[in-house]
Amino acid sequence: MYKKFFKLTRNPFDLTPDPTCFVPTKRHNEALAALYHGVRRHKGFVVVTGEVGTGKTLLLRCLLRLLKESKEIAYAYLFNSRLTPTEFLQYILSDFGLPASGKNKSELLLDLGQFLISRGAKKQTTVLIIDEAHHLSAEILEEVRLLSNLETTDDKLLQILLVGQPELDQKLDSVGLRQLKQRIALRAHLGALDAEETKGYIQQRLQIAGADAETSPLFPSTTIEKVFRHSRGIPRLINTICENALITAYARQQHSVTPGIIEDVAKEFRLDVVTSSGMDKIADQDDLDVQRVIGVLLDLFATLRRPLPADQTELSIPAAVRNRQA
Ligand SMILES: Nc1ncnc2c1ncn2[C@@H]1O[C@H](COP(=O)(O)OP(=O)(O)OP(=O)(O)O)[C@@H](O)[C@H]1O
Ligand SMILES: [Mg+2]
Repeated sequence: MYKKFFKLTRNPFDLTPDPTCFVPTKRHNEALAALYHGVRRHKGFVVVTGEVGTGKTLLLRCLLRLLKESKEIAYAYLFNSRLTPTEFLQYILSDFGLPASGKNKSELLLDLGQFLISRGAKKQTTVLIIDEAHHLSAEILEEVRLLSNLETTDDKLLQILLVGQPELDQKLDSVGLRQLKQRIALRAHLGALDAEETKGYIQQRLQIAGADAETSPLFPSTTIEKVFRHSRGIPRLINTICENALITAYARQQHSVTPGIIEDVAKEFRLDVVTSSGMDKIADQDDLDVQRVIGVLLDLFATLRRPLPADQTELSIPAAVRNRQA
């Protein structure tokens, strides 16, 4: 409703995790690099944790768009973690396009094993991606551990990516899951953004939405400082505050969001009671060359920004990037 008033082409602070709005902060780059590198280099088991609303699902959507670049990568994407072990396996098989209904657990495991072996023999990559993995029961985590055992003498047949809130780490720390924890090849953590990153985040999301950086800023620095204070740098909260601030500014017919508007929105949302979140960094347990992988990813972000045309499901990878990946 306010787009015309502020001369924007789209809603800058939409809450949908949309890859075309991705802002490649250092933290997000590192986590995306860990996921991408883990898949491409067959690392086996990658874990990304992050506070609520820090961009984990968005990262996975970006990753999926990157993986779609490659015809020899198949993935199953699971986000409903509250399943029984049989339902879990059925879901994975169906997502890989294999018949699964009416089969018992051992039949499902057998089919999955054969599928992975045949793909492995053709040097194809197969990925299991689990979002909201902190909800996984101990039973399902045990299944995940068994799946992570599927390997040949020189390669992992299934790349497993677990992404979830910090409770996931606590679960993996529990005695019964130590074996699974030892198998983690790469891990990353998403924390809140700092003040500078919050500023860059807001400015980039506005830019993606068509805001003209040359004209007087929609969100002056003093306003952004307030957004940081009340959001503690958590992207979802930044979006909520900024979206509501734009609506308020529009209602008041003001062309710039004042610090006072942010205070009003924060009061309305009772944001002073939000707890802060960690600022942990990626802790790679491997030879991950983060900078190199980030270099490749940065080139791809420009591609990610473009929404896919309705008739196109694959993205074309820039030649320069393809060469660097080789
Ligand atoms: N790097 C980023 N660039 C652009 N938008 C981002 C970024 N990180 C987070 N966001 C935005 O923040 C919001 C929350 O992101 P997302 O839903 O991915 O968080 P989450 O970590 O999966 O949350 P939850 O723990 O609740 O599942 C979304 O609107 C998303 O677009
Ligand atoms: Mg999520």
